Amino acid sequence: MIPTHVGIIVDGNGRWATKRFKNRSEGHLAGSKNLDNLCQHIFDKGIKILSLYIFSTENFKRSDEEVNYLMDLFARKFKHDFKMFSKKEIRIMFSGRREPLKQEILDIIDDITLKTKDNQNGILNFCVNYGAHMEIIDACKKIVIDNNNGKINVNNLDDKLFSKYLYNDLPDLDLVIRTGGELRLSNFMLWQAAYAEFYFTDTLFPDFNEKEFDLALDSYNKRERRFGGIDYEKKNF
Ligand code: IPE
Ligand code: IPE
Ligand code: MG
Repeated sequence: MIPTHVGIIVDGNGRWATKRFKNRSEGHLAGSKNLDNLCQHIFDKGIKILSLYIFSTENFKRSDEEVNYLMDLFARKFKHDFKMFSKKEIRIMFSGRREPLKQEILDIIDDITLKTKDNQNGILNFCVNYGAHMEIIDACKKIVIDNNNGKINVNNLDDKLFSKYLYNDLPDLDLVIRTGGELRLSNFMLWQAAYAEFYFTDTLFPDFNEKEFDLALDSYNKRERRFGGIDYEKKNF
């Protein structure tokens, strides 16, 4: 089975560079280049939605030099991906808090979001200045406002309605991959990962190629997803 929604926690760029006596920024550049073929491969496999965790709300703790380098790299990357993926009718979206991103990057994000909004062949969702706690808090605030305005009745709140208040209303994650050896989510899509399968690899992101991705898919296909039931396949929820 091909998962519908795959999330990748892109990790290990810094260590990849340090191991080669290079600057951390060279690791980020190598990671960004690696994404080109990898994303292509993932959509070619028939995966419809790919969420890439590339900058967390917590990553602002890093030096100004690293944060500025990453933001410049993202600006170039988003424009490049817009050219590459709009030809293939892939919609590009962004999940994350707008503040304190610079206006320059927000303009690129808004432009690409608008220009690709009708594309139907798949979704590439960049999680930038993303944190799951913030996403859930932001959703709760909007829900309170809409309840007070009479737009919704909070008594009718269920998981489907709640999802509509997240940064993007996407189906739950089927598979979460984390490169770089850490066994944690680091605040990635806590709501959407409720029933995801997890795949952790020591491979550092710049080395996580198409073959490595296929290993993750093989592992996913060996899992029995029960969703709390006894035999999910037979019950046909
Ligand atoms: C890249 O990996 C992901 C980002 C947060 C931009 P890291 O920069 O966290 O690389 P390591 O974990 O230090 O090796
Ligand atoms: C997680 O990586 C965030 C992203 C990949 C964007 P980090 O390198 O920031 O995570 P920690 O600090 O090891 O938890
Ligand atoms: Mg890291």
